[in-house]
Amino acid sequence: GDTVPFYGAHQAGIVTAMQDNLYFASLEITTTDKRELIKLFKDWTVAASNLMKGKPVGDLSSNGFLPPKDTGEAEGLSPANLTITFGVGPSLFVKNGQDRFGLRSKQPKELKDLPKFSFDALDETWCGGDICIQACADDPQVAFHAVRNLVRIARGKLIIHWAQTGFQRTKNAGNVKETPRNLFGFKDGTVNPDSKEDLKQVWVQPGDGPNWLVGGSYMAVRRIQMYIEVWDRTTLKDQEETFGRKRMSGAPLGKEQEFDEPDLEEKDENGKFVIPETAHMRLARGDGTQQLLRRSYSYAGGMDSKTGSIDAGLLFIAFQRTPSKQFIPMQQRLAGLDKLNEYIIHRGSALFACLPGVKKGGYIGETLF
Ligand code: HEM
Repeated sequence: GDTVPFYGAHQAGIVTAMQDNLYFASLEITTTDKRELIKLFKDWTVAASNLMKGKPVGDLSSNGFLPPKDTGEAEGLSPANLTITFGVGPSLFVKNGQDRFGLRSKQPKELKDLPKFSFDALDETWCGGDICIQACADDPQVAFHAVRNLVRIARGKLIIHWAQTGFQRTKNAGNVKETPRNLFGFKDGTVNPDSKEDLKQVWVQPGDGPNWLVGGSYMAVRRIQMYIEVWDRTTLKDQEETFGRKRMSGAPLGKEQEFDEPDLEEKDENGKFVIPETAHMRLARGDGTQQLLRRSYSYAGGMDSKTGSIDAGLLFIAFQRTPSKQFIPMQQRLAGLDKLNEYIIHRGSALFACLPGVKKGGYIGETLF
């Protein structure tokens, strides 16, 4: 079918198979009233469960003297596998030293702004947020409609801080069984945890602390601009050495098939590693003990006025149990040595704690409040 269930132990949109489109919004809460915040999450729960079923957020039989409850652009469309995933940022707890909603004691130690990494060129307009909504669907209008209506419900309580659309090749273009390619033309998402055991690295486990987040997941978001024009002038050999993989097949260098195990010890006749020491996949992997669930989307906008090139890149999204043991050390290794740094630049950054799933009758975020 094309419906993903809303209720469950975990929120949808994390281990759900990736849909074709993304609309991501980072929100700033403007209300100071905790009761209003709780009411908002309750309203969102009803709205999100309806939206994911392909239903409007409110009765369409309208009173001609009022604006319609639902904005209407998804009328008659299928749910298109819509998932809506809510997360909370560090600033929901404490902002400028202020305990905004009496939640300070509940702020997880792991939920703080990501540290600065070398080569970061962050622009505040793409950073942080009190709450995030990730909407993914196999239709861009369905994804947009979801965020638009959730934000509309919240009018007067929050504003959008930043938002980003994302795409990958759609199912209409075929090749659904193949790993999608990023804007550098390489298969992206080959190595991703999928077994039940591996997924323990995605969900916050009992004992990790705090209890309200058990079954949730930390979401690291990085808006990474990719210098596609520079890349396009780079030789194929350089491109492949940058990732440590073959462009066409996605195979690790020295191997034939995409899913072959890379041999990180293999050297060529000159005594150099076949998969270079600066290769992205080698550095990202490290000793192999840290994993992430990557669920990123490409983006492309207009021109970047700073560089005169197309503003295109990757909205990198990764889910994990413990950022200080997963995303952070990984990005520290990449920021130091990764050859990919010649072609990319990190412009935006945020960390959110995606709330645990909701049981029927409950509401999103109820364990927190
Ligand atoms: C692997 C692209 C940023 C973590 C890969 C691969 C590609 C790729 C093509 C190899 C195929 C695969 O396994 O998916 C990119 C691009 C990036 C980017 C274009 C930026 C625009 C990042 C960041 C992180 C990351 C910021 C985490 C901090 C990983 C991991 C792997 C990987 C964990 C798998 C390594 C393994 O083989 O074990 N990436 N990546 N990537 N990347 Fe990235």
